[in-house]
Amino acid sequence: MRVFVLTGAGISAGSGLGTFRDAGGIWARFDPVKLATPAAFAADPGRVHDFYNTRRRAMLAAGPNAAHFALAELGEGLRTDGGALFLCTQNIDDLHERAGSRAVHHMHGRICRALCGACRVTVEWRGDLGVGDHCAACGRSGTLRPDVVWFGEMPYDMPEIEAALARADLFVAIGTSGAVYPAAEFVEIARTMGILTLEFNLEKSANAHLFDESVYGPAVESVPRFVARLLGTGDAG
Ligand code: APR
Ligand code: ZN
Repeated sequence: MRVFVLTGAGISAGSGLGTFRDAGGIWARFDPVKLATPAAFAADPGRVHDFYNTRRRAMLAAGPNAAHFALAELGEGLRTDGGALFLCTQNIDDLHERAGSRAVHHMHGRICRALCGACRVTVEWRGDLGVGDHCAACGRSGTLRPDVVWFGEMPYDMPEIEAALARADLFVAIGTSGAVYPAAEFVEIARTMGILTLEFNLEKSANAHLFDESVYGPAVESVPRFVARLLGTGDAG
């Protein structure tokens, strides 16, 4: 079986990381126009670096939770049976990788990488990033930014994502409000291709009506149960 899983901030909520659009969420406390756009970075790179440095420290201090580990187990289990898991995340943390998932597609980029705006080279970057840092590839200073996709920018890996979606037997969305495109459109694309669609969320997402089945509750509970049932392992609860 080929399973396409899309995760959002809700899967990392169980690790203590904030979501964006829940009550008191990140965009309720910070203005995305001033922090998550190319224009914001051009206008005040120091403020954008501070925002992402704080989030990077929190993400590195957090640990993967039962939902992340369950998806890593799902990937291994499907591979053993000749199937495949295509894991696409909107999250910029590395909790899927630290839970053991391989080939994670970060369509909104990764907080632990820095991108040079001049030469477009990306490097691993796990410390604070600032305007004084310079690019080892081209030597320029002030051109490094977090390797994350800002509003108005093209997501990463779209050709691979679209190809994997077209091949999937099952589409699963976990912890996403369905508010941001193109990710919010994936369930509709899956439905038009006759693919079964499942949603695991804390509450109804904007796309709830498009899912064949929905399970509401914390992902740390619902996702391990789902994976156990799908792999036929342990007590599916
Ligand atoms: N378990 C399951 N779902 C949860 C949990 C939890 N413990 N906690 C919250 N959720 C759900 C919420 O109900 C909400 O629907 O996760 C969803 C999170 O939605 P958003 O905060 O909008 O996050 P996300 O959908 O990932 O946002 C997409 O928007 O700002 C951009 O780039 C940013 O990648 C992000 C994108
Ligand atoms: Zn450079």
